[in-house]
Amino acid sequence: GKSNARVYVQSTEGIHFDDVAGEDEAKENLAEIVDYLHNPKKYTDAGASMPKGLLLVGPPGTGKTMLAKAVAGESDVPFFSISGSEFVEMFVGMGASKVRDLFKQAKEKGEKLTMLTAYDYSTAKLEDAAGINGILVGDSLGNVVLGYDTTIPVTVEDMIHHGAAVARGAKNSLVVVDMPFLSYQTSVYDAVVNAGNIMKETQCDCVKLEGGKSVCPQIKAITDASIPVMAHIGLTPQSVNAFGGFKVQGKTLEAAQQLIEDAKAVEEAGAFAVVLECVPEKLARKVTEAIHIPTIGIGAGAGCDGQILVYADMLSMFSDFSPKFVRSFANVGEIMSQAFKDYDAAVKDSSFPAQEHT
Ligand code: KIV
Repeated sequence: GKSNARVYVQSTEGIHFDDVAGEDEAKENLAEIVDYLHNPKKYTDAGASMPKGLLLVGPPGTGKTMLAKAVAGESDVPFFSISGSEFVEMFVGMGASKVRDLFKQAKEKGEKLTMLTAYDYSTAKLEDAAGINGILVGDSLGNVVLGYDTTIPVTVEDMIHHGAAVARGAKNSLVVVDMPFLSYQTSVYDAVVNAGNIMKETQCDCVKLEGGKSVCPQIKAITDASIPVMAHIGLTPQSVNAFGGFKVQGKTLEAAQQLIEDAKAVEEAGAFAVVLECVPEKLARKVTEAIHIPTIGIGAGAGCDGQILVYADMLSMFSDFSPKFVRSFANVGEIMSQAFKDYDAAVKDSSFPAQEHT
C-alpha cells in the first residue's frame, strides 16, 4: 500500500530472561505471561484471561527492548518491532493531520509544492516516481478523458472509477480527488456522504471542492469527518454557466476583496490548501500572504506556494483548447501522433510484426 511503515522480524538470537541483567521484578511478572502462553489451560481453569498487551515503561536505554526480546525468546516466537509512528501510518493511514502538516510545513519552509492532474494508474505511477507532491484527479477528466465541453456532466462514479486507479499508482504523492458538480452544493449532508464514499472507494488522501464562503459549512463538516479538504477559488469551472465563460476572476476591487475573504473563510472552515485558478498575479500574492495554508496556483502567477497543471496540457496532448498560462514541457501529443502513423504504415507495409516480434 501507500504506507512507508516497515514491520521487520528479527531473530530472537535465543535471548532469555537470564541474559537480561536486573529487572527481576519485571521478569517475574513477564515469566507468568510466558507460562500462560505455554500452559493456557492452567490459567483459564482458574478464571484468568490473557492480557491484551503489556506496557514496559522506562527511560531510553534501560533494557525494555531486551526484555521484550526475552519474552519472545522464552515463548519461542518471533520478535516483531514497529515504532509508534509506523504503527499509526500502517494501521490508520497518513491521517488528516499528516496531510495538513505536509502542506503546512512546505509553506513555512518556503518550499514550492508541485501538483499535476492524472486520471489513470500509469500516469499516476510516472508522476509519483518523478516526485510530484500531489496528484489531483481533477474533474477536468470530463474534458480530457471523457470529451465533454465542461466539467458539469462528471459524476461521483466517474471520479471514483478514475480516483481509485490513480490511488493504486501513487505510492508517495498525495492523492486529491475532485468532488464533481452537485455532489456537495446541494447540502452539507450530501457533501459528507459523497466525500466519504469517494475516500472509501478510491483510498485517496483528500478531496477538493470549488467555492468560497458559500461552501464553508460543507468544508467544515467534511473536515470534521476526518476527510482533509482542498478548496478551489477564483475561476471555478463548475460555475462556468454563472460566470458566463472561462474568464479571469478578481479583476475589480470588489471581486479582489471577495477573493481574499473567500480564501480566509475556507482556511477558517478547515481547508488545508486552496487552489487559485485564473486570478491576477498580484492578487494571488496578496491571498498567499493573507492566509496560513498553501495556495496552489493555476494561471495565477509565480507568487503562490505551489503550482498545478492539467498533465495533458503540459504535455501538449489535449488539443481542444490550450489556456494561455500553460507551458508545454514536452510535445507528447506530436510524438504519439507520429508513433500511431508509423504503426499504421508498418502494419500496412508488413514490416511489423518482424521475425523478432513473433
Ligand atoms: O479539475 C481540474 O483539473 C482542476 C485543476 C485545473 C485545478 O480543478
